[in-house]
Amino acid sequence: MKNAVVIGVAGFIGSNIAKKLIKDGYNVLGVDNFYSGTFKNIIDFKGEFACSDVAKDSLDRFADADALFFESAITDTTVMNQEEMMINNYEAFRRLLEFSKDKHIKIVYASSAATSKSTPPSSSRPALP
Ligand SMILES: NC(=O)c1ccc[n+]([C@@H]2O[C@H](COP(=O)([O-])OP(=O)(O)OC[C@H]3O[C@@H](n4cnc5c(N)ncnc54)[C@H](O)[C@@H]3O)[C@@H](O)[C@H]2O)c1
Repeated sequence: MKNAVVIGVAGFIGSNIAKKLIKDGYNVLGVDNFYSGTFKNIIDFKGEFACSDVAKDSLDRFADADALFFESAITDTTVMNQEEMMINNYEAFRRLLEFSKDKHIKIVYASSAATSKSTPPSSSRPALP
């Protein structure tokens, strides 16, 4: 059986990815620090759960994963603390990339709704700063 780790499993997207992976036969470790997530989202989650902060806690328990799903970026536009954003969004993901590199663990990164819902890039459109 393949092993998947879903980071941000108590969030909207992570909880739904985790459910789908389990349905498809994956062994799933769900990880969350409840920054914005809720137990309601994982009430029927059938995998293993770890309460952990991927920006600072050990990642060693992910070593036998085949894939990591990074679904834990802070997306709330009312969060104005830039340091918190950098640690949670940039530093956490950088740590995961570093950890996965030599172990050949695939990473799935959720892009931003600002990208997926905006006008597609056009070569005729001037670049914005
Ligand atoms: N919801 C959308 O419409 C949408 C669209 C496009 C992309 N995305 C992306 O998908 C991802 C998830 O979005 P969402 O809407 O599910 O957000 P969400 O806030 O519902 O879920 C994020 C989860 O990550 C957890 N978390 C935050 N920091 C953590 C940390 N350091 N360690 C462990 N867990 C942590 C939170 O507690 C929460 O459960 C984000 O990266 C977001 O940019 C969301």
